[in-house]
Amino acid sequence: MSEKIYLYPVWIRLWHALNAILIILLIITGVSMQFTNPDNPFIRFDIAVKMHNISGMILTLNYLFFLAGTIVTPNGKHYKITLKGLTGRIIKQFTYYTFGIFKHEPTPFPVTKDSKFNPLQQFTYVAAMFFLVPIVIITGWALLYPELVLTKFFGGSGLKVNDFIHVIIGFFVSFFMFVHVYFCTIGATFVSNFKSMINGFHETH
Ligand code: HEM
Repeated sequence: MSEKIYLYPVWIRLWHALNAILIILLIITGVSMQFTNPDNPFIRFDIAVKMHNISGMILTLNYLFFLAGTIVTPNGKHYKITLKGLTGRIIKQFTYYTFGIFKHEPTPFPVTKDSKFNPLQQFTYVAAMFFLVPIVIITGWALLYPELVLTKFFGGSGLKVNDFIHVIIGFFVSFFMFVHVYFCTIGATFVSNFKSMINGFHETH
């Protein structure tokens, strides 16, 4: 019998919807600036730059909102990784995704109110939200105001290194998003996890 557990408070859903829209806009405008032919760009270069900068600024504010929510609400507990036994738990979840799920075995880490992420989810969400996204934000601001930090302290090469980090980590965030959306389809039904990010209720298997 499937059961519904309220896991995603309104503020998480609002943060997440805005975050997803902005990151998609950042990827589209970023890819257009980086890869398309300047004579015939996917999005006109100056428009892509403006959209990318504005989206990045709103993303920063939205990220601070997520950070504040994680500190002051009980949702933060889901992001506290217990290092002891972590590798074993990740391997167990990985084995489930690669073998157990196809044999209809029960999930090794059932979702509860106190533990809504499985170990792989927890690890990737922490990596995305406390490592990848902050690096992209910081390097993005540094590219916007290079005269403040980069050229002053590190010379011209600082700008190139910063740009390289921004693009590479941006690529990892894009990769995270595609894998994340794929794994979200592995719910009670194909769409149940997507529904839970709209109504707040997680449907168990
Ligand atoms: C079209 C894009 C996206 C879709 C459809 C999507 C879908 C979902 C769904 C269905 C959930 C709830 C299930 C779960 O907890 O695994 C979720 C949670 C989450 N997503 Fe996404 N996502 C998208 C983009 C992103 C991006 C770009 C990020 C971060 C860079 C992100 C970070 C998260 C985090 C941290 C959670 C857990 C939130 C919490 O409950 O504390 N998502 N997403």
